[in-house]
Amino acid sequence: MSNEQTLRDVADERGVSLGAAIDPDTLRRNPSYWKTASSEFNLLTPENALKMGPLRPSRHTYDFRDADAVVEFGENHDATIRGHTLVWHNQKPDWFQAWEYTPEQLRAFLRDHIHTVVGRYHGRIDAWDVVNEAVADDGSMRRTVWSDALGEEYLADAFRWAREIDPDVDLYYNDYGADEVNEKSDAIYDLLERLLARDVPIDGVGLQLHALGDWPDPDSIAENVRRFQDLGLEVEITEMDVAYHRGEAPSNPLEVQAEYYRDVVDACLEAGCETIVTWGVGDGNSWLRGFKDFGERYTGDPLLFDDRYEPKPAYHAVKDTLQDQ
Ligand code: XIL
Repeated sequence: MSNEQTLRDVADERGVSLGAAIDPDTLRRNPSYWKTASSEFNLLTPENALKMGPLRPSRHTYDFRDADAVVEFGENHDATIRGHTLVWHNQKPDWFQAWEYTPEQLRAFLRDHIHTVVGRYHGRIDAWDVVNEAVADDGSMRRTVWSDALGEEYLADAFRWAREIDPDVDLYYNDYGADEVNEKSDAIYDLLERLLARDVPIDGVGLQLHALGDWPDPDSIAENVRRFQDLGLEVEITEMDVAYHRGEAPSNPLEVQAEYYRDVVDACLEAGCETIVTWGVGDGNSWLRGFKDFGERYTGDPLLFDDRYEPKPAYHAVKDTLQDQ
């Protein structure tokens, strides 16, 4: 009987949020994608549609059609929605040139953006990645258009502006490569501790978890989750996928991948992290297929469903883990 249950059924029963990043175009034209997204996941997040570039085609206009499509699809299927992302150094609009703004104008620009976008989805989006990837790989503050003009203070401002316009939504700091205890997660820990000490309204930290082979180590992820929780933060896995270096993939990649998914989900649940989002629905939609030269360097089948939306061993591993726990 349990075989007839979807992953979503099992996640619902267990009180866990199991999510996927969604592309509105694929949703519109591919019925298998539509069906898988609606029946297998209880949390959805637009993969690109809420980023500043896609949202703002020209200086004076917003285009909310794609973002609305994903949010409405989620609402129609009783899914929780994560918003991704308000402040990032990538995927900015082409017309946007920071040097055309004074620091004060840039602050006003960012405040308006946050107010407009968070305000529009008040009561419909449950959590926002307010700031994405503000820390560099060596743990220093990443130099971006925002930090160059506004210093570290743009982080505190961004969270406050989001809180100002929406008192209820959960506000997250999100980053990659900081899933386990390492130099970068240490730096993020210190940064968030500093901001919290100043009463900056941060509710949680998102660990992207773009895994490569058996990195990061699941036990270390659990330890990392616990220390952020001890700071008073929620922790969510926000963009999980599991790839391998080409040439270094195991001979039975699907089984090894399933085992890794199992270990991570197990470790996260044990540590009390109960939201796990995968970065796409099926392997055919994975960003790793097409992004820059990633496709040449890494294997492109990192998700729970294959190119035809058939469940992979990783799917069954996650489902079993949710049922066992
Ligand atoms: C990626 C999308 O998946 C791609 O479609 C897009 O071309 C580039 O961005 N970290 C993040 C995500 O926070 O927003 C990125 O998404 C993947 C890495």
